[in-house]
Amino acid sequence: MKRAFITGITGQDGSYLAELLLSKGYDVHGLVRRSSSFNRGRIDPIWQNDPVAAERLHLHYGDMTDGVSLVNLIREIRPDEVYNLAAQSHVKVSFEMPEYTASADGIGTIRLLEAIRAAKLETKFYQASTSEMFGATPPPQNEDTKFYPRSPYGAAKLYAHWVTVNYREAYDMFTVSGILFNHESPRRGETFVTRKITRAVARIQAGTQKDLVLGNIDSIRDWGYAKEYVEGMWRMLQHDEPTDFVLATGTGTTVREFCELAFSHVGLDWRDYVTHDERYERPTEVDALLGDPSKANDLLGWKAATGTAELARLMVDADIALLGSSDS
Ligand code: NAP
Ligand code: GDD
Repeated sequence: MKRAFITGITGQDGSYLAELLLSKGYDVHGLVRRSSSFNRGRIDPIWQNDPVAAERLHLHYGDMTDGVSLVNLIREIRPDEVYNLAAQSHVKVSFEMPEYTASADGIGTIRLLEAIRAAKLETKFYQASTSEMFGATPPPQNEDTKFYPRSPYGAAKLYAHWVTVNYREAYDMFTVSGILFNHESPRRGETFVTRKITRAVARIQAGTQKDLVLGNIDSIRDWGYAKEYVEGMWRMLQHDEPTDFVLATGTGTTVREFCELAFSHVGLDWRDYVTHDERYERPTEVDALLGDPSKANDLLGWKAATGTAELARLMVDADIALLGSSDS
């Protein structure tokens, strides 16, 4: 039985990845942060839906900013595969908490790599890198595109990307950087723009919200379905050679168009509800992200199946269902 260690298991991607690895027979260990109240809503259903598989799921307290906890956990778990998904992942928040973001997202990665190296394990390592590293470089972007981050988050992730590459070259470790374009789902955090929109659509339709306040709606993103992207992460670690991969749909959509898709799904005109507030804008914006996933298509046989329009519809439907269940 293979053992995996997932940091960020309580997040959107971590919860989908935990389900995937359990379904493949893995023993899954997850890093959780101590908080004053439980924040395990995304993984709780595993115990309800599949109690037998849940016996192979183990949670451990720790933090990406606490190197000792990472050293001890790696030594204790001795994982075959590590998926480093933990991060302060909100771009706008990274301008407000730049130092913490650098520590958790940047230095946190080297803390984890050092923990693996010190334990002298043959562990395969996946780093959750991001299209934000391309920042100001115009699309389409692929593995050879020049990096130009535009936020403390993008810069911290770029550091993590390069140390992942460096540990592969310096110590011959099996380390992979997955450069993922935006991926969303009904489990997406409520302050990311897609979920903010689909949640508002559900509430506006139900009459409990009047309008939706957004920042820049001209930016272009390449939005795919998170459940499919975690399959790509796993495939990267099963590939013969450690190398870097882009995962994306290959299609760009503006925030404005995403609004149109989500509101029109329930017969509403987005222009009647969306207003603007510069509070939601960033000091420096990433105008256009659109990925070229050819390498993952060719070497991993991975392809995004769900396009942005279908994604918007499924997220609106999920938010309507969620509202219905919380009313009852
Ligand atoms: P997410 O929902 O925000 O989840 C982040 C996870 O990291 C949560 O489990 C969170 O724990 C944990 N975390 C945050 N700070 C931590 C710390 N100091 N120590 C330990 N755990 C910590 O993010 P996601 O969308 O699933 O993304 C997963 C990863 O992929 C992130 O690294 C993100 O930057 C990267 N990424 C995401 C996308 C995307 O479009 N979703 C694209 C490219 C790359 P709590 O639950 O306690 O907050
Ligand atoms: N969050 C948010 N809230 N974004 C808004 C809003 C708003 O009210 N109004 C407009 N936007 C615009 C942002 O300025 C940005 O151009 C776009 O919507 C997408 O914003 P987010 O959903 O916050 O995502 P992101 O692209 O900045 O970052 C996400 O994707 C990255 C991969 O490219 C995050 O998941 C990152 O962790 C990830 O690395």
